[in-house]
Amino acid sequence: MTDAFDALRRDWEPDLRAALAGVYGDRADEVAERLVERARTTAHDRPDHLRARDLERLVDPGWYQSNERVGYMAYLDRFAGTLTGVSDRLEYLDELGIDVVHFLSVLQPREGENDGGYAIRDYLVPDARLGTVEELWDMIDELHDHGISLCLDFVLNHTSDDHEWAVAARAGSEYHQRLYRMFPDRTEPDRWETCLPEVFPGLSPGNFTWDDTLERWVWTTFRDFQWDLDYTNPDVLVEIATIALQLANYGVDILRLDAIAFTWKRFGTRSQDQPEAHLIAQALRATVAMAAPATVLLAEAIVAPTELVGYLGRHELERRECEIAYHNQLMVQGWSMLATRRADLAGHALAQLPRQPDRTTWFTYVRCHDDIGWAIDDGDAAALGLSGQGHREFLARFFRGDFPGSFARGLPFSSNEAIGDERTSGMASTLAGVAAALDAGDDAALDQALRRIELLYAVVFGYGGIPIIYMGDELCQPDDTTWADDPARRADSRWAHRPTFDTALAAQRTAPSTPTGRLWTAMRHLVDVRRSCPQLDDTAATTQPFDAHDVAVFGWFRSSPRHGQFVGLANVGEHPTRVDTHPAVTPDAIDLLDPDAGDIWQLEPLQVRWIAVPGPLAPVPRPV
Ligand code: GLC
Ligand code: GLC
Repeated sequence: MTDAFDALRRDWEPDLRAALAGVYGDRADEVAERLVERARTTAHDRPDHLRARDLERLVDPGWYQSNERVGYMAYLDRFAGTLTGVSDRLEYLDELGIDVVHFLSVLQPREGENDGGYAIRDYLVPDARLGTVEELWDMIDELHDHGISLCLDFVLNHTSDDHEWAVAARAGSEYHQRLYRMFPDRTEPDRWETCLPEVFPGLSPGNFTWDDTLERWVWTTFRDFQWDLDYTNPDVLVEIATIALQLANYGVDILRLDAIAFTWKRFGTRSQDQPEAHLIAQALRATVAMAAPATVLLAEAIVAPTELVGYLGRHELERRECEIAYHNQLMVQGWSMLATRRADLAGHALAQLPRQPDRTTWFTYVRCHDDIGWAIDDGDAAALGLSGQGHREFLARFFRGDFPGSFARGLPFSSNEAIGDERTSGMASTLAGVAAALDAGDDAALDQALRRIELLYAVVFGYGGIPIIYMGDELCQPDDTTWADDPARRADSRWAHRPTFDTALAAQRTAPSTPTGRLWTAMRHLVDVRRSCPQLDDTAATTQPFDAHDVAVFGWFRSSPRHGQFVGLANVGEHPTRVDTHPAVTPDAIDLLDPDAGDIWQLEPLQVRWIAVPGPLAPVPRPV
């Protein structure tokens, strides 16, 4: 493996050095040496079965871009109870057709409140309530044996205030104090506050927290117990990269770089999306790739559309950065289309995104464990004659059910009246109208609500990238109602959409007349059709929205040099419509979702079509 390591090092070390030079200037070489050394040790210690996995993926580097991939995301405790409990859920995941899981809140979090598992006390052992580290390793092996890849959170912007580094800092260790950002008085914090936004204005106002033991102000972007690491200190990067390497040697396939956009602070800016945050991701990528090529990085950068593709390495010159990023713009535009019954803003906004670099792809999703931040760009809105601020406020109001004609029953999250910002919590079913329809006993409204969820999932399954099913959506699970009574969760409405897996509901999945049975069947269908559709493989393929000449129809066009064309159509309106034929579609194309459709250009309200020539690789035409 030493030879393999050297080959990988030759490939990646230039990337590493270039990234570090941009962050650490004169000190870059020394930092590079330390990181290469850590990578070498990791490669040396790497278990044989993971080396075999490396080899497989070096042969199939586009594994995460394949149309075979289908993801599922769940709080591990809420889905399976414990690490060993995951065994009992594998059959369920198989039945749904999942081969990538993102389990949340696995590593040892802070005692007491921990921001849903995002304040980490120890990155290298699981939450003791879930099991032991051996059980974690066993779970990973079992997932792998089952053909399932594992994504885990890597919370690298901050540690909890009871992490051993914070404990040592409090005990007086200067080395550990320098891993964080601390200030003796309010001078610097006050200066910085003039340009910093607040992530949790209600839960945790401001960006700094006084610590009685240290007698200093600690930088805390998120909750007061989440201490931001100081990446201007290269020791931080080396420590964090070492943990990433260890998790890679546990067999984690996808490391989700939590809040990566926040890792670099620059006075006079919002201290998000700074160039150095990208360089840090690039340095981590190079370090991990040298030692553990089976492991890839996922950017959790829930940012403005203009910033998004940078995390996949789209800069003035392309860089190898994260292989995967959350497509929050597609998610936001999906919900916006349902609220407005119009597709023009979505089409325009998504068309503005630069093409993602080869060898990268998206996590496409409808809901996740976080609130929805209404990332509507002012320029995109203006191009359609809308006010960005006005549209964002409309979406927040609409999805909390406070707008005429709204079908949603969501909850506000982190409202910040001073700047007119409000985000939204709620399960897909709540936001799409299921809760309201059931309350009203209105069958027609229920049908519409279910169609909305089916539509959003059909868009994300057909857009390219790895579609992620958020636990409970496949069952039409409603909001959790217990959170508001629990003092530990009451202040954070995100808990409304973090329910416990409902086995009674799951038992209804085979009853097609129930909302659960209907969504389960719809998701199963999407999984199967996606797997049979090589046009949805993302290797070298592109996705572009196109104008379907009907404001209610969202059209997207995919083109793959190997697999040809694909046209997606989603009617977000309330009326049946017929759109023009697309010039790239040949007569042998069908609607893969409804192969018997007579007229593939005719769409019922809330219907989605995936139009392509069915089958595997087409034969090469013979010369005549
Ligand atoms: C990410 C997580 C979110 C958490 C935040 C701080 O955005 O998804 O749940 O609150 O980071 O770690
Ligand atoms: C992170 C995410 C943001 C989310 C917040 C809290 O900042 O990037 O989207 O709202 O965490 O959930």
